[in-house]
Amino acid sequence: MKVLVIGGGGREHAIVHTLKKSSKVDHIWCAPGNGGIAQEAECVDIQATDIDGVVAFAKEHKPDLVMVAPDDPLALGMVDALEEAGIRAFGPRKNAAVIEGSKSFAKELMKKYGIPTAGYAVFEDSAAAIAYIKEQGAPIVVKADGLALGKGVTVAMTEDEAVAAVKDAIDGGAFGGAGARVVIEEFLTGPEVSVLAFVDGKHLKTMPSAQDHKRAYDHDEGPNTGGMGAFSPSRFYTEDVADTCIETIFKPTVEAMAAEGRPFKGVLYFGLMLTPKGPKVIEYNARFGDPETQAVLSRLETDLFDIFNAVIDEKLDEIDIRWSDNAACCVCMASGGYPKAYEKGKVITGLDDVTDSFVFHAGTAVKDGVFVTSGGRVLGVTATAPTLDEAIVKAYADVKKIHFEKAHYRTDIGVKKG
Ligand code: AMP
Ligand code: GLY
Repeated sequence: MKVLVIGGGGREHAIVHTLKKSSKVDHIWCAPGNGGIAQEAECVDIQATDIDGVVAFAKEHKPDLVMVAPDDPLALGMVDALEEAGIRAFGPRKNAAVIEGSKSFAKELMKKYGIPTAGYAVFEDSAAAIAYIKEQGAPIVVKADGLALGKGVTVAMTEDEAVAAVKDAIDGGAFGGAGARVVIEEFLTGPEVSVLAFVDGKHLKTMPSAQDHKRAYDHDEGPNTGGMGAFSPSRFYTEDVADTCIETIFKPTVEAMAAEGRPFKGVLYFGLMLTPKGPKVIEYNARFGDPETQAVLSRLETDLFDIFNAVIDEKLDEIDIRWSDNAACCVCMASGGYPKAYEKGKVITGLDDVTDSFVFHAGTAVKDGVFVTSGGRVLGVTATAPTLDEAIVKAYADVKKIHFEKAHYRTDIGVKKG
């Protein structure tokens, strides 16, 4: 079977690498892919948001399945376009991807169906938003409504910060159209856990829990990034917590989307906060998370291609999905300066010395036969071991063997307690 994977980051490398293990898959294309993915798949020079380009390629080359991984093409309706062209596609349609693409949609869904989340209000007018902030007081959270590359959220410790965030988003156009509407949320506290689930419109099968590290520097300091590392499982996601989440959040969400005429098929990502009042939804994503996927898929024992097909055919209840008991730790190595301006084209050395990890490539290219950096997040060095502590040690031992100018990584992936 032939598979086309859309995207070109560490997450897509993990998906390609895992599909490659399937005895049924004999060819993988990745659009656009990256330097590391090119070692395992045929990279195609089509941007992930180029719907016409992807559909044209698929019509010509006839993959048996197209897996759309990133948020933007999902929100733009790439799965709908592929299906209309008669091509099997994995991922939510546009009307279901909106669960990530519009925070106000997600909040209204949760309110309507009684799914626990932070209290909130939605504004398009900055004066009304500011009045609401003054009434509620700080700390308070301001979120751009639309997709903003993970940078549209301000957790404001003071009213002034919250007011500034509103002005930036609504009046200043900081996030373009994505910020013309803002969601203002109650500030919640507690450990954060990510739970990804395969969903076929009706049934849901969760993957093992994970935790992400969004801030750029150790001890959760510095600016928010796409994610500087992840590990699986979370210490906080006990069986009791899982049972509560399944009954109060996961199943109700899948049922709510079906009831709204927006059946969700694909991977649904629940960003949860385990508050003193129980688990609450911080965000939904309509896709695999990055870098959680690198950690979580490293634990998958079942054929991923079979799972994708079970989702598309709405037969997820018929497949047994097995996971290794091993823990996994993924440490991201980033370009110095990321998430702000950074340089590209730095030669990467030491990859051949890695012994105990798998290195997923996020922002790399091959130039004159050597790997060079080509993005903010460059590599995701991922190790598995019977305990999380051992996985952390293995991953960092390999991180230390890899070098490129101005490389930056956090030294505390996996050790955070909350
Ligand atoms: P998001 O992009 O929605 O994942 O938000 C980024 C980060 O902001 C989350 O990972 C949380 O750490 C934090 N955050 C989001 N919403 C809230 C909230 N209601 N209360 C406290 N922290 C929040
Ligand atoms: N790691 C968070 C995300 O993929 O949105």
